[in-house]
Amino acid sequence: MKYCLLLVVSILLSGVAWADMPGEKLFHRKCTMCHVVRGRGGAIGPDLSKVASRMSEAQLQAKIAYPKKSHPGTSMPSFATLEAGEMQVLMTYLKTLK
Ligand code: HEC
Repeated sequence: MKYCLLLVVSILLSGVAWADMPGEKLFHRKCTMCHVVRGRGGAIGPDLSKVASRMSEAQLQAKIAYPKKSHPGTSMPSFATLEAGEMQVLMTYLKTLK
């Protein structure tokens, strides 16, 4: 019973966080270890704080799904397994980075 309540509370809390800016959460889970946005993140990949001003949505999607196409030796992993909805929220967030 105690665990049940904990589960409900944590689902509610994560729901609130997701409703905030789901793409940003996803970005922090999957990308921040290598990319800086507004001063936060790892330095393995380029700073993405203004990525939307130099890449179109199609270029971003191609990069995320098939990074080796544009950079055969890149250490960036492919995120082709993201669900369509996840890619969509990630795009919504990345497009704000101008
Ligand atoms: C293991 C490290 C790593 C992870 C994790 C990673 N990247 Fe990268 N990323 C790189 C590196 C290194 C480059 C530069 C070489 C290249 O273009 O592939 C790069 C390049 C990029 C570029 C091109 C930027 C430019 O200015 O040309 C974009 C956009 C990008 N990453 C987005 C993402 C997103 C979105 C995620 C999360 C879904 C992500 N990356 C996760 C390492 C990573």
